[in-house]
Amino acid sequence: MSVKLLPQTALIHAPRKAPQLLNSIQPPVYRASTIIFNNTDALFNRHWTDDYDYSYGTHGTPTTYTLADQIAQIEGGLHSLLAPSGLSAINLVNSCLLAKGDEVWVADNIYGPNMEHLQYLQKQYAIQVKVYDPTNANTFRPSAKTKLLWLEAAGSVTLEFPDLVNLVKKAQHAGVITALDNTWGAGLAFNAFDFSEQHLSVDLTVHALTKYPSGGGDILMGSVVTRDKTLYHKLWQMHALQGVSVSGDDVAQVQRSLCSMRLRYQQQSQTTLELLPWLKQQPQFAQVLHPADTEGHGYQYWQEVCESGLSAGLVSVIFKSEYDLQAVRNFCDQLQLFKLGFSWGGPISLVMLYQLKHMRQLPHNHLEQGILVRFCIGLEQREDLQADLEQALSIL
Ligand SMILES: Cc1ncc(COP(=O)(O)O)c(C=O)c1O
Repeated sequence: MSVKLLPQTALIHAPRKAPQLLNSIQPPVYRASTIIFNNTDALFNRHWTDDYDYSYGTHGTPTTYTLADQIAQIEGGLHSLLAPSGLSAINLVNSCLLAKGDEVWVADNIYGPNMEHLQYLQKQYAIQVKVYDPTNANTFRPSAKTKLLWLEAAGSVTLEFPDLVNLVKKAQHAGVITALDNTWGAGLAFNAFDFSEQHLSVDLTVHALTKYPSGGGDILMGSVVTRDKTLYHKLWQMHALQGVSVSGDDVAQVQRSLCSMRLRYQQQSQTTLELLPWLKQQPQFAQVLHPADTEGHGYQYWQEVCESGLSAGLVSVIFKSEYDLQAVRNFCDQLQLFKLGFSWGGPISLVMLYQLKHMRQLPHNHLEQGILVRFCIGLEQREDLQADLEQALSIL
């Protein structure tokens, strides 16, 4: 059309188009709900279940597909889907793979909102939720109805590293799909799709990209990764049906941070390991929980799987029972560098307190009684973090 456009129309149909190949370091950001088809042939020939179909924003854009591929590659998978949060990725898996009458097994230390979502499904759709002890693979007893096994390594808050080898072998033997919440390992501490000498693999991973991939404490995102094309298409379909989509701008932020993720993860892992011996010496703590601690629960399983020696930036302590809730609250309030807040993997160290008696369903005799405090180590220097902990402990 060569007619001169009226001002409002000209504003919308801007003449300058981006070149096809502009060699910038970061890829351009595509924001899309509508994607314009060149002609009706293109409209009628689209295949929305194709890996790289561009027909509507919820299905994906070059921006979202690129990050999905990067996450799959980091984790050792082949196919990946993005979701607006880690929890939304978990919910996608649960709602896609479970149907009325099915049984799902979860570790007692599974990420709390995952358990809550499953309990909701149990009430609404007669799905049976069974809980196993993360320190004992024998407590996972699949039946003919079992469809899904949730794994988390290390587990949430108490950080026990499970016997992944035996849990996955048992699940495979029973024809049960294995889903690993891979947020702690982030695809760096171990390869969930090829771990152990026997080259075992989980069927799918979920990753809260909110943590290490984002790295800023400011973006929410999640992913599901698999190597299994059939499983991927099933998840893809649910993903499309539920309208699960992420913002191109948020994806670009994660992509920018991804380049430094390994360095940040290594640093946070190392700072945490350096703090560990000091934490273990403090008389106020009855127990220090960390999967790479030789006295910790699941140390041998961590060693078996995490050949990299990496162990993320989380460590928990249980205060001696003489310190009541108020005392532990005072400790948390006294901290200056550690900020009180949920989540982890960001630049600022965080602290959160938990009362285990309200969180666990099975006996947990390996854990001392007392208020638990979880520290998420950020990118500050170890000496400053230790000094902050020291001054907060001194008021007790
Ligand atoms: C182990 C684990 N999985 C999943 C999530 C959920 O991630 P998001 O906060 O992005 O929903 C969290 C969040 O704390 C987590 O700790």
